[in-house]
Amino acid sequence: MHLPKAELHLHIEGTLEPELAFALAERNGVTLPYATTDELRRAYQFDDLQSFLDLYYALMAVLRTEEDFTELADAYLTRAAAQGVRHAEIFFDPQAHTARGVPIGTVVEGLGRALERSEETHGISTQLILCFLRDLSAEAALGTLDAARPYLHRISAIGLDSAEVGHPPAKFREVYEAATALGLRKVAHAGEEGPPEYIREALDILGVERIDHGLRCMEDPELVARLVADRVPLTLCPLSNVRLRTVDTLTDHPLPEMMAAGLLCTVNSDDPAYFGGYAGDNFDAVRDALALDPEQLRTLARNSFEAAFLDHDEERRAR
Ligand code: ADE
Ligand code: ZN
Repeated sequence: MHLPKAELHLHIEGTLEPELAFALAERNGVTLPYATTDELRRAYQFDDLQSFLDLYYALMAVLRTEEDFTELADAYLTRAAAQGVRHAEIFFDPQAHTARGVPIGTVVEGLGRALERSEETHGISTQLILCFLRDLSAEAALGTLDAARPYLHRISAIGLDSAEVGHPPAKFREVYEAATALGLRKVAHAGEEGPPEYIREALDILGVERIDHGLRCMEDPELVARLVADRVPLTLCPLSNVRLRTVDTLTDHPLPEMMAAGLLCTVNSDDPAYFGGYAGDNFDAVRDALALDPEQLRTLARNSFEAAFLDHDEERRAR
């Protein structure tokens, strides 16, 4: 669907399509444990978040140079533009790269080169969100924020992702405080596989402005009432929820109930190369599976601009 929209939940590493993965593997002399792109695609059968993350981190081995990150971001922006994305707030996982010996500067400068010309080449304004891997330590997150200091002019916000259960937001209180002091905005994944309590912690302890996923808030009516009253945006990812088995099928997705409850819902693609579609594909899928009418689709698109980290002028230009 080509409705103008902002994409607020998108992991750039999750846009690595099999064809680009093989091309980069060849260029960088990396051997993949798959013979063909079809064989790789056949491995995209996930039982839960962790089974996806195992493949997601493994495939990143092909990303080594600034140019690789520039190509990755350019490929995403090309696809997103074709699906009506006008503004994108893009996650990246520096620790998944520094752990392999790729410096954070290579990642940020490589992505930055694509993003800085994106308005001109793709008609998409962009921001970059540095995510901490929550299954690593709080100390590692603090070290990563420190390593990012020379690149903060390119970074708008911090986020929290990777394996959720057993890694509550409270673990990252200190790094979120440090990021606040640096003037960064704050989001966190919460309530994807983890309980509603993690959403409360993300709000109360980390002070986040948006919740990524947040699906499990529906188990807690008091929390829903709070999210509605405070207009806290939720960045939902319907196709991701089906592929990672957070919901059984798309027709079971609670999006219509969430909208009816007054929650500020947005629709995003998460890791589109792995989950079967980009932002517009997610809009199409919920329209078809959940019989959303044109007004509901327009509300979702409008919500995406309201929830974005844009000032009024930027928002007007992006719409
Ligand atoms: N990293 C990439 N995609 C993710 C997701 N859906 N949840 C948590 N961490 C992620
Ligand atoms: Zn995500």
